[in-house]
Amino acid sequence: MNIFKLSDFSLMSIEEILKLAAEYKNSERNLNFNYGKTACNLFFEPSTRTHYSFDMAEKKLRLNVINFDSASSSLKKGESLYDTVKTFEMLGVDVVIIRATENEYYNKLVPSIKIPIINAGDGTGNHPSQSLLDLYTIKEEFGHFEGLNIIVVGDILHSRVAHSNIEVMERLGMNVFVSGPEEFREEGYNFKELDEFIPKADIVMLLRVQNERLETKMNISIEDYHKNYGLNLKRVNNMKEKSIIMHPAPFNRGVEIADEVVECPKSRIFKQIQNGVFVRMAMLDIALSK
Ligand code: NCD
Repeated sequence: MNIFKLSDFSLMSIEEILKLAAEYKNSERNLNFNYGKTACNLFFEPSTRTHYSFDMAEKKLRLNVINFDSASSSLKKGESLYDTVKTFEMLGVDVVIIRATENEYYNKLVPSIKIPIINAGDGTGNHPSQSLLDLYTIKEEFGHFEGLNIIVVGDILHSRVAHSNIEVMERLGMNVFVSGPEEFREEGYNFKELDEFIPKADIVMLLRVQNERLETKMNISIEDYHKNYGLNLKRVNNMKEKSIIMHPAPFNRGVEIADEVVECPKSRIFKQIQNGVFVRMAMLDIALSK
């Protein structure tokens, strides 16, 4: 089955994926059920965590792994995304994991591509594996979703992480708010002033400014961004005792997050990265078996 965006999935199926991920994390699952099958990672945009987390998840599941190198591929000769994916299908690949710049690129691939596709991020659209690992980390921390207050801070407009997360978190009964400079705001989301909301937040989720998606440089200087919206120790000290800090990474130290906050006791940033492997094992399992 394909995994394009979480809005295609019921809350029950989302909980099922999270449960499966927990079973992988607790080593309660058979790892050999897909032995001999092949996964192909096709990343047309830069990626460290998502790419190598899928790579790691595939290897833990005993899958064969092909890491497509877009820089040395026939893309340089003008080959399209569709023709590239079709080629891997014909080579005998069993599942493709794709990241591409175009929103909803996957609509061009269905129905002709018959092998399962996992979306590893489409433009400013969706990032289901990131959202699932964020949900996993939240559930691990709080044990539930209902009623939790989250504020997502930064470049909401260009962030597929924000778009994916806000949709599913609202469905899960979380109270979702956004903050950040005016140029990155998006209609339809509940805006709050960061400093006013920080003492009420259970989760402060920071985002990177998506410079590669901006037409011109951001209007606000890096210094002002950090001063007004960056999470520094002073703001962390205003957070609730049991609250946590999240960030999908890559983070820019000294912009959206102060250096000393990255690994402070409230930060779950590296925990998110660790959980990502188990969540992606669960996604591959479901994509290959359903
Ligand atoms: C994010 C992405 O690529 O959407 N990173 C990630 O997958 N962990 C966020 C970002 O690039 O800022």
